[in-house]
Amino acid sequence: MIDRRYKKSYSKRRKYSNSLMGMPPLLSVDDNKPVSYKQQIAVMGIVLLICGALFACVYLFLFLASGQSEGEDQTPAQASSASASKKSNESSEKKKTDLPKKRVTKITAANMAVLRDMTTVTKESEDVYKGSLILVNKDYPSRLDGENVELMLDHLTDDYTLSYFTVGFAVDMIDPFNSMMKDFSDQYGDTDILVSCGYRSYETQQELMENEKELNSDDDSESDNTAEKWVAPPGYSEHQTGLALDFDLNLSDGGKIGINYDGNGVYSWLNENCSDYGFIIRYREGKESITGYEYEPWHFRYVGLPHAQYIEDHGITLEEYLDILSDRRDDNAILMQDHDGIYWCIYYVPASAEGSTDIPVPKNYEYTISGDNRVNDDSDGSGGFIVTVKIGDHVEEVPEPSVPESTEESSSESSEVVSETENSDQQQESQEQSKENVTVISIPEETESKAEYIFDPLEGI
Ligand code: DAL
Ligand code: ZN
Repeated sequence: MIDRRYKKSYSKRRKYSNSLMGMPPLLSVDDNKPVSYKQQIAVMGIVLLICGALFACVYLFLFLASGQSEGEDQTPAQASSASASKKSNESSEKKKTDLPKKRVTKITAANMAVLRDMTTVTKESEDVYKGSLILVNKDYPSRLDGENVELMLDHLTDDYTLSYFTVGFAVDMIDPFNSMMKDFSDQYGDTDILVSCGYRSYETQQELMENEKELNSDDDSESDNTAEKWVAPPGYSEHQTGLALDFDLNLSDGGKIGINYDGNGVYSWLNENCSDYGFIIRYREGKESITGYEYEPWHFRYVGLPHAQYIEDHGITLEEYLDILSDRRDDNAILMQDHDGIYWCIYYVPASAEGSTDIPVPKNYEYTISGDNRVNDDSDGSGGFIVTVKIGDHVEEVPEPSVPESTEESSSESSEVVSETENSDQQQESQEQSKENVTVISIPEETESKAEYIFDPLEGI
């Protein structure tokens, strides 16, 4: 049964709407007599009010209906903020799709099992000058000159050519390089790419610098120090380590001598994907004040994994990366996940000023140690070592060690470890046992939630 109030109101609405349409004289509600002028004015006012109210209702209804499609029970303010946040999500989605699909992340983990069962290895002071992470720039000279360098003629594949017979690479980067070039040529076929330079001796660098200065002196537009923006002083070139290479193109017309490779077109694949093979573009655009050199898209430097991926993903330089690493000890190590989802743990050990340095390393995991070469006459430190531990596709975590209940128990535990290390079979068994222990001691739920992870503190550096 219809409520009388609605019936009446419906009836009024029909009549008033007729008046608004310019229909015959308005009729009173209760009888069909014409109404007075004052009554008409009053009625018109009411009509306008009701129309306004109706309009507001319709508007509100439409607004709420659109809000509900976003989510139930939203106020207009919530709906409006939801719509703003949708826009912002859409824009961040767009940004995400612009980024590489996988991205190396850096996490700081408090309780990694990998660093619980440790031993030490000893490095000598000259070891600080060796390794794939050594920094060679205008501040830090290369102490290497041809050690561990092999001729690429012995490792040459069909995927590239060499500009001369004696191009040499540091041993560590030969396989990653060939693997990168294979993937490149599988994708793009026969390109004109050639390696114009790998290892350069001190003397060759000296000649290069002299040539460059001479060429610039013929050109009035070049200032006196232009050569230094492109060519490292002898003794200060990464090429002297064998860990750097320059690309060029084998153009039939010769192109521009030595600098045809700009990393564009098909070659952009190399510049964009080199980090997956452990290489970085060493002299980045926009980082000239840090590297000391102009942008060189052709100069690739091997630093290894996962370091290259992190450096390239974050658009930083080797200088900046080493600054970050050098604050991390084994009790504050960095946990990194690479493009393939593999976890790596990285920490820094300052070299001892006295001579040899004892470096803590995990007993049960694969690791490498590289010096950083950050030693010069002005530096107050002695450089240091970067330990890179490959963990695998998941990270065991353990709670902080609890304080032993009695010293007796604690000493019996440590003597157990000592006796186990005396026998290799027993040692292996102990390691297995230790692995089991790590698995057994999983983090209790309440502790897990407290584990401190800081994702990508470098984002946007
Ligand atoms: N072109 C780089 C800086 C070198 O000469 O080593
Ligand atoms: Zn170069």
